[in-house]
Amino acid sequence: MFKIGNIELKNQVVLAPMAGVCNSAFRLTVKEFGAGLVCAEMVSDKGIVLKNAKTMNMLYIDEREKPLSLQIFGGEKKTLVEAAQFVDKNTNADIIDINMGCPVPKITKCDAGAKWLLDPDKIYEMVTAVVEAVEKPVTVKMRMGWDEDHIYAVKNAQAVERAGGQAIALHGRTRVQMYEGTANWDIIKEVKQAINIPLIGNGDVQTPQDAKRMLEETGCDGVMIGRAALGNPWMIYRTVQFLETGKLMDEPSVREKMDVCILHLDRLIALKNENVAVREMRKHAAWYLKGVKGNAIVRNAVNECNTRDELVNLLNGLAADVEEKESLVTVG
Ligand SMILES: Cc1cc2nc3c(=O)[nH]c(=O)nc-3n(C[C@H](O)[C@H](O)[C@H](O)COP(=O)(O)O)c2cc1C
Repeated sequence: MFKIGNIELKNQVVLAPMAGVCNSAFRLTVKEFGAGLVCAEMVSDKGIVLKNAKTMNMLYIDEREKPLSLQIFGGEKKTLVEAAQFVDKNTNADIIDINMGCPVPKITKCDAGAKWLLDPDKIYEMVTAVVEAVEKPVTVKMRMGWDEDHIYAVKNAQAVERAGGQAIALHGRTRVQMYEGTANWDIIKEVKQAINIPLIGNGDVQTPQDAKRMLEETGCDGVMIGRAALGNPWMIYRTVQFLETGKLMDEPSVREKMDVCILHLDRLIALKNENVAVREMRKHAAWYLKGVKGNAIVRNAVNECNTRDELVNLLNGLAADVEEKESLVTVG
């Protein structure tokens, strides 16, 4: 267990913020698999300030997801502060996180996301302004630097701490790396030794064993899991169990995977509408299907689905096929 400000996390396993993925439907599902903290996908400060309808919908949080961290991004102090105040007063988020890692040009061109990594003074100024304007704890998620020649992770993290930030999540890649190469865990260790607020390590935790290794090798306080949880909330459950008991739980059966995929779909339909949810669910279904033998035909068919019934029939059909094959093997 550790704390971010006054918010207690029941374990060290954190679901990473992922745009287009971490809405309430997915977050609640992952939460039920035991995550100590779930992070929402990044939300534009300007979208909040302008009360853009789509942006407002992104602020929805189910009470059962808590504790939850809601991430905002922006490049200007005024709008960032206003957005943070809105989140502070009008949402049930527990933590306000500031994005300092997004590498996408559309974001960095507006002086937001990873662009800040080049300027520890700006980090100090912006984080100070947000911290002073809100009551909820403020945290920052950052990459280790802009490129190989500009790795200011330690200075940047210290700036966050001086500014009153209550925790940092550090992805061990530069902006230029995007998602290439391997995450540098040495920098996570270096930053951990340089600050006194909790540090959550992030990058390339693909298995429960990786999570344990990251905690041991870097001394970080928590581990943040992103891509390994896509279509795989069991990764969170298995990691929590492994860290707590040293036991590695079995991977889920195909039936379990399809059942949770359908639960996720139904939550997405409740959040959006059937048409939008089914389209959005296509990529998730492909992730849930990863590793399932003979999934190629179903994966292709998923991309043609337009209704809940079509998608559910495909997923249930696959689970039934696999179960039948397994029973033949058992009998045989
Ligand atoms: C689809 C996708 C969307 C992402 N969106 C965000 C985001 O909104 N905010 C953010 O801080 N990081 C975002 N990230 C980065 C992840 O939070 C995380 O730092 C990165 O994936 C490395 O962790 P991993 O190796 O466990 O995946 C995103 C990553 C992916 C794959």
